[in-house]
Amino acid sequence: MKGGDFLPLPESFMQDLKLKSDIVDVVASYVNLKHKGRNLVGLCPFHGEKTPSFYLYPENGSFFCFGCGSGGDVITFIRKIENLDYIEAVKFLAQRAGMHMPENSYDEGMGRLRGKIYEANREAARYFHKQLYSLNGKNALTYFHNRGLTDRTIKHFGLGYSLDSRFSLTNHLREKGFTDNEIIQANLGFKSKNGATIDRFFNRVMFPIIDLRGNVIAFGGRIMSDEKPKYLNTSDTLVFKKSTNLFALNMAKNSGKRQLILAEGYMDVIALHQAGFTNAVATLGTALTPQQATLMKRYADEVVISYDSDEAGKKAASRGISLLRNAGVLIKVLTIPDAKDPDEFIKSHKDSGPARFKQLIEASGNDIDYRLQCIKLQHDLTQSEGKVAYLSEAAKLLATLYNSIEQEIYAGKLSDEIGVQKETIMAQVHRLAKRSKAERETKDFRAMQTELSARNDKINPQKANNLRCARAEEALIAYLMNNPDMALMAVNQLPCEKMITDFNKRVYKAVTDRELSGHSAQLIDISEGFSPDEISKIAGIISKYSTDLSTADVAQEYINVILAENDKISVEQAVTATNEDITKYLNNLKKNKQ
Ligand code: CTP
Ligand code: MN
Repeated sequence: MKGGDFLPLPESFMQDLKLKSDIVDVVASYVNLKHKGRNLVGLCPFHGEKTPSFYLYPENGSFFCFGCGSGGDVITFIRKIENLDYIEAVKFLAQRAGMHMPENSYDEGMGRLRGKIYEANREAARYFHKQLYSLNGKNALTYFHNRGLTDRTIKHFGLGYSLDSRFSLTNHLREKGFTDNEIIQANLGFKSKNGATIDRFFNRVMFPIIDLRGNVIAFGGRIMSDEKPKYLNTSDTLVFKKSTNLFALNMAKNSGKRQLILAEGYMDVIALHQAGFTNAVATLGTALTPQQATLMKRYADEVVISYDSDEAGKKAASRGISLLRNAGVLIKVLTIPDAKDPDEFIKSHKDSGPARFKQLIEASGNDIDYRLQCIKLQHDLTQSEGKVAYLSEAAKLLATLYNSIEQEIYAGKLSDEIGVQKETIMAQVHRLAKRSKAERETKDFRAMQTELSARNDKINPQKANNLRCARAEEALIAYLMNNPDMALMAVNQLPCEKMITDFNKRVYKAVTDRELSGHSAQLIDISEGFSPDEISKIAGIISKYSTDLSTADVAQEYINVILAENDKISVEQAVTATNEDITKYLNNLKKNKQ
């Protein structure tokens, strides 16, 4: 995001915020970090991975992931992980640090529209809820009652009903002062073919989705018949990203346990809460994402996966398991008998439903038990071929565990079960683990190479044709960020307009402008003028040169390379060049050769 959406924040405020928002402290509340030399590493919270490629550089306050290429300063980190815009991320960090935001820093543009979307959603939720208890909502209310929900639960979740009309919500929101654009941006309405704004949701029971700060950010709407689609959900908007939110986490985070139950559907979650399991959450119509797994880790040490026991549910569970493992939570996998979902299970047992569900949780195995069980079911253990196949697949699974104690425990169990020596099983596990580690490393290395390769550089497309020069520019930028007192020397020889690639020119200008006026130019100081992708790119540059202890001499070399490129350009235009230009160029060439 560029400036314009808000007034610039005072320098003193930003300095203070920076001091109080140590990147290591902030990131550590989302990612498990380990020291590696002067830096820290962990599993990247922005993509799924098994070996850590997320690097944190405390010295310059930046992070960079060699797997997915995301990087930035502490503000960018919060923007990405909390799905906030620049000013909101600043606000978030200020709140965390106990600071007050300066007045008037947030009024126009995008920020205003986001505010309107929150308001429109809140008003829509109120309206839907009111309709549920109106004459027109009679069937919908009966639908909820028939599904076993009490009025108390309906109120608690703010459930509602969208009328069987194409205009009722749109008209209501207009009366409340919202513009058609705001209604559409909130995804509560859309433009029909003839240009009129019409309601997105009609004749559905409505589930509001509420974020951790209590804002209504989206809706799920269920049809009350067998028609399709069964659910209609809000698409991503300025305030909502389905991949980074969880249904009912706003309530579940207050359950007082460090445990969450992950169910598949809205109705499962609501039924579970009504039955006393107030720590249940669900994804929003998609498979679990790495961001959601990381989010759960913030509120839970243990996650009970409680998906439907059909094939789709099993598949979703196994995918969820690996993401949650990466996030570092303990996992239990619940198997509900008779292919039921939690909602049906609890209901079918009437008064004893809650107690029975509790038993299921207590009896459920961890994810390794669950996965071994799944493998076992695929083989005939009365035959020796079946046993061998089972063992070899089981060893493959154990090879993926990081924890050697865990490996020992399960190897012991398998040994008892099949009658093969534990040492033999462990030897196989070690062999496989070694191989997969080597495979992972080549894969990570390749990902790193692609990411860093100039051909892949979307942010600086000119780099591909100016490789040597763009590298010199990047090295110089990194050097200047670490050596602010050299900015004057650099700019005297190499004014901004002499930078060859446009992106590096912008970065160079941002860095030297600040340094020449006596301010520091770490990533966090200049990030305001760049988009998140651009910031990632800058973090990548910093990361690449973080171990490079360039001296002033080396910096001078970088400058020479860039200056030479400038002269080259003028020779390419030699047709129009003056004699003087050409003489200058030849002299320079001579000088550089000495
Ligand atoms: N879902 C969706 N769109 C669909 C079907 C499902 O977004 N067309 C999402 C919803 O979040 C839903 C979840 O996937 O809650 C699980 O789907 P399903 O098990 O089919 O629905 P239930 O929540 O169990 O709903 P119900 O019990 O009312 O059938
Ligand atoms: Mn269901």
